Amino acid sequence: MGRSLVVGKGHSLQGDIRVPGDKSISHRAAMLSALAHGESCIANYLLSADCFQTIDCLRKLGVAIEIDQHTVRVQGYGLDGLREPVEVLDVGNSGTTIRLLSGILAGQPFTSFITGDTSIRRRPMGRITKPLKLMGAQILGRADDDLAPLAIRGGRLQPVSYATPVASAQVKSAILLAGLFTDGWTEVLEPAKSRDHTELMLQALGVPIVVEGLAVRIKGGQSWSGFDMVVPGDLSSAAFWLVAGSIVPNSRLVLHQVGLNPTRTGIIDILRAMGAKITILNAHTSMGEHVGDLLVESSSLHGIEISGELVVRAIDEIPIVAVAAGFASGVTEIRDAGELKVKESNRLAAIAGECRKLGMDITELPDGLRIRGGCKLMGTVVDSHNDHRIALSLAVAALMAEGQTTITNAECINVSYPNFPSVLSCLGGVVSET
Ligand code: S3P
Repeated sequence: MGRSLVVGKGHSLQGDIRVPGDKSISHRAAMLSALAHGESCIANYLLSADCFQTIDCLRKLGVAIEIDQHTVRVQGYGLDGLREPVEVLDVGNSGTTIRLLSGILAGQPFTSFITGDTSIRRRPMGRITKPLKLMGAQILGRADDDLAPLAIRGGRLQPVSYATPVASAQVKSAILLAGLFTDGWTEVLEPAKSRDHTELMLQALGVPIVVEGLAVRIKGGQSWSGFDMVVPGDLSSAAFWLVAGSIVPNSRLVLHQVGLNPTRTGIIDILRAMGAKITILNAHTSMGEHVGDLLVESSSLHGIEISGELVVRAIDEIPIVAVAAGFASGVTEIRDAGELKVKESNRLAAIAGECRKLGMDITELPDGLRIRGGCKLMGTVVDSHNDHRIALSLAVAALMAEGQTTITNAECINVSYPNFPSVLSCLGGVVSET
């Protein structure tokens, strides 16, 4: 068995935090700087396992990348600057890496093989292989090209207009990135607006992108120069502190320089609707992205109903919302969240099963969760299902459980938040690693 995290009951969390750089933005910054002309300097890049895998894949594609503390320098040679990789590209646990990079590989005049860990090899890839094949790429994968490993023989692509059945930024971005390797306008239509970091970053770099409601169009064959940017803090990592600061009595936390892109702020809207005290300070924009500080103070939460576009805007935060709901009065019902079954783990089953072990009244629904708050939790042994967001959500639940909670297979926190245990201990939490 891997590493375990042992978390004790918390009494009050106080302090200032700088959460790690945004995972989605870090991946995109690395990929777009690899396709730029000249050197880019990305500060506050998330050096977690997932974003390191993106760097590793880009290096195997011939891109020179230097890492100095949290700053990454990338030497790009334009859209045609990548080289056929001698080795298989390994994305580890990162769905964003395999799906976005496949969009880029589809446009290359060479063949690549791309795969990842056991979780990646179970996750649906047909949602990207189908549109990329329509654009002209040759892609082979297991289960009718739905499962990695994928073999991608790319080339010059045809622009398409593609209506994706899922609201997924990874699908949308894969198609937009492939659209760069066409001679015309590529269009993606989605059923609800997913995160738009790819569009904002390309727009900031001067690439023609038109957004009209749920349609995004990109013009192919563009070039841009190397750039400097600072990656904002990750709201999905801040979410654990927003919930911890709300439910642990007598807490007051300030989270600095957090990304507040409206396609990601569902967690703030949900927690505020539940009665959380969250204040946004020092709001500004950087490379098209909203950024600000967040002040959270403990409060009494109450249950609410969550569905529709709010779920899309909080797609990675549903496990931690479930934990918050366990300490809210009344019932919280989350619907329209079937996508959670195909994330790093089946997150509906994982969070429901593990929180029940702690004593929470939580039921898995066909497309969501029902939680009756107010049960007293008792520390015990729970498991991460090798999913970083499950491990971190359980660590927050443990702060409100009597005694000690042991989270097994907790090394997966390295995927997005490697120093979470040391931050928790600086804020006054009792935590150890075994
Ligand atoms: C991401 C998009 C989302 C999200 C994932 C990161 C991205 O996935 O869950 O953690 O960076 O584009 P989907 O596109 O599958 O919804």
